[in-house]
Amino acid sequence: MVQNDRPVLALFTSHWLSLLGAGLMTTAGILWLFILPSQLRGHGDNPYVGIIMFGILPVVFATGLVMIPAGLWLARRRVRSGLAQMIDRASSIRRLGFFLGATTVLNVLIGSQLTYSAVHHMESVGFCGTSCHVMKPEYSAYQGSPHSKVTCTQCHVGPGARGWFESKMAGMRQLVEVAFDTYPRPVPPAVSTGRLVPANETCENCHWPEKFQAMQLRVFPSFAEDEANTLSQTVLVVMIGGKGMPGVHGSHFGPGIEITYASKDAGRQEIPWVEYKNTLTGETKSFTAEGATAPDVAKLERHRMQCVDCHNRPTHAFDLPERAVNNAMANGDIPVTLPFVRKKGVELLKASYSSQEEASKKIQASLLEFYQKDYPKIADGRRADVDRAAQGLSRIFSRNVFPDLKVNWGTYPNHIGHTDFPGCFRCHDDKHKSAAGKTITQDCSACHQLAAMDEKNPEVLKTLGVNERLDALQKK
Ligand code: HEC
Ligand code: HEC
Ligand code: HEC
Ligand code: HEC
Ligand code: HEC
Repeated sequence: MVQNDRPVLALFTSHWLSLLGAGLMTTAGILWLFILPSQLRGHGDNPYVGIIMFGILPVVFATGLVMIPAGLWLARRRVRSGLAQMIDRASSIRRLGFFLGATTVLNVLIGSQLTYSAVHHMESVGFCGTSCHVMKPEYSAYQGSPHSKVTCTQCHVGPGARGWFESKMAGMRQLVEVAFDTYPRPVPPAVSTGRLVPANETCENCHWPEKFQAMQLRVFPSFAEDEANTLSQTVLVVMIGGKGMPGVHGSHFGPGIEITYASKDAGRQEIPWVEYKNTLTGETKSFTAEGATAPDVAKLERHRMQCVDCHNRPTHAFDLPERAVNNAMANGDIPVTLPFVRKKGVELLKASYSSQEEASKKIQASLLEFYQKDYPKIADGRRADVDRAAQGLSRIFSRNVFPDLKVNWGTYPNHIGHTDFPGCFRCHDDKHKSAAGKTITQDCSACHQLAAMDEKNPEVLKTLGVNERLDALQKK
């Protein structure tokens, strides 16, 4: 027996490379089998285990697989003489054949499982969002967004083999950048790098422009910087429209309408030229910004308007401090009854901190110090409220500012609206003129009906009974 086995062993031991290869394959296979049960039982959330299991082990396994024949080839003379010895014994050959067949089946089995789970795992939100901390700002914003149940790949990977391949190539590039610590900080907006998958291959899989609702009532709370944090509200009825009704969507996506624009900067903040074309009526008009000349504009890159030219932050929306504090106060995250909490809160958020941990500690200490000095009764009697306010502020900071990644207030502009960033007013500024002298409108009622602007207890909300309803809910 021992005699007969020797040639088989000799094959693998004939060169150290084959031996090492066999060793690597076995180790990867066994480790993988050990980790598998924990993954199957649903403990697959730890991204590091994921990276080992689906990133590193398959590579080790495949390397081993390649090293075995490479070693055999390097030691081909010795192998040939070993085989020659075996020719004499038919049973030996049969056994060798069986051995090679069985190991190949096993290898293919493990190998295909590895690649299948690797691919599957790399599509998961856990992998995209938490495997490397570069994604932390986007992941944090994503978790609280209307799309928190939509996977990253549904917006970031195009359809078919091409989309899959492009995303894996981009992934490799990013892996190298992270490994060598050369990734850009902040990570640039995806639209500005030209790498975002076109909206008709992503957004429009789930949203139908024909089906948009006609109008939407929006209430914006705003608290003043006075001692009482006086609340005022802005009420808009946004004319969203649809393909049938002009409104916002219909005006850019109605039947036959195509809008093309040229931008000066990668972030598309400056738009000196816009063209409106209606293929049904044959109407074409172009609008040029004040001061821009035709030759200047001709040199710029052109883009066909799509969903993300307005909804660039449907998922990764970051707020400015004022808006974030207004919303947190309206939601009850920060107690509205603490004197000057709006003014002080924004001030503390705008200070500079080296990390989220430091911000959290300093915000808590400074807020308490402020009340101890100016309102000792509150610092004593309402310590829990002061702490709750500090926690609310720290949460806002950690959700919007990432000092190590150089993501600060306003790093990522949002194009919906025009109050925090230029947004709609990049084109609708009344300064883009057509040859006939017409401008792209800035008429306040073109996009929304301003039912109330910064009013205390606006009439319209009284009529609708909204504020009483909110008060009642808050008292519950
Ligand atoms: C509903 C669609 C959608 C989903 C889901 C989504 N993204 Fe995005 N993402 C976008 C859009 C649109 C942009 C482009 C923003 C811009 O250019 O202003 C973007 C940009 C990014 C950027 C570039 C940096 C930035 O903020 O512009 C990163 C990184 C990113 N996304 C990661 C992720 C990760 C990780 C997930 C899953 C946890 C995810 N995205 C899920 C739509 C989405
Ligand atoms: C896989 C399906 C899917 C994809 C892809 C998708 N969305 Fe959505 N989107 C949804 C769902 C579902 C909701 C409703 C969520 C809710 O109301 O809780 C939604 C909500 C929205 C809203 C309303 C948000 C709000 O505050 O009420 C906007 C705007 C939006 N999506 C834009 C986009 C854009 C832009 C893209 C492409 C970058 C996109 N969506 C891609 C499924 C999707
Ligand atoms: C010209 C800017 C613009 C473009 C382009 C645009 N939208 Fe909108 N969209 C808006 C505005 C403004 C609203 C109102 C909501 C708001 O103010 O946040 C809105 C609302 C929505 C809503 C919420 C509707 C509801 O009934 O609550 C969805 C979903 C949406 N858009 C998806 C899309 C998709 C998908 C595309 C691309 C086909 C698109 N939008 C293109 C400006 C735009
Ligand atoms: C890239 C440039 C561009 C951006 C950005 C843009 N628009 Fe427009 N918009 C146009 C053009 C061009 C027209 C057609 C103007 C015309 O026909 O006179 C238009 C028309 C409209 C109209 C119809 C106006 C009317 O007179 O009836 C509405 C409403 C509108 N846009 C809303 C929005 C909103 C809301 C946003 C931001 C969320 C926005 N637009 C962002 C280019 C833009
Ligand atoms: C091209 C379309 C358009 C025009 C023109 C326009 N707006 Fe708006 N405006 C919007 C959109 C879209 C929003 C909602 C943004 C959102 O959903 O967060 C908005 C939001 C607002 C808000 C809410 C502020 C806040 O807290 O975010 C105010 C106030 C406002 N607009 C005032 C005006 C006034 C005043 C004018 C006239 C000078 C005007 N708008 C013209 C599109 C427009």
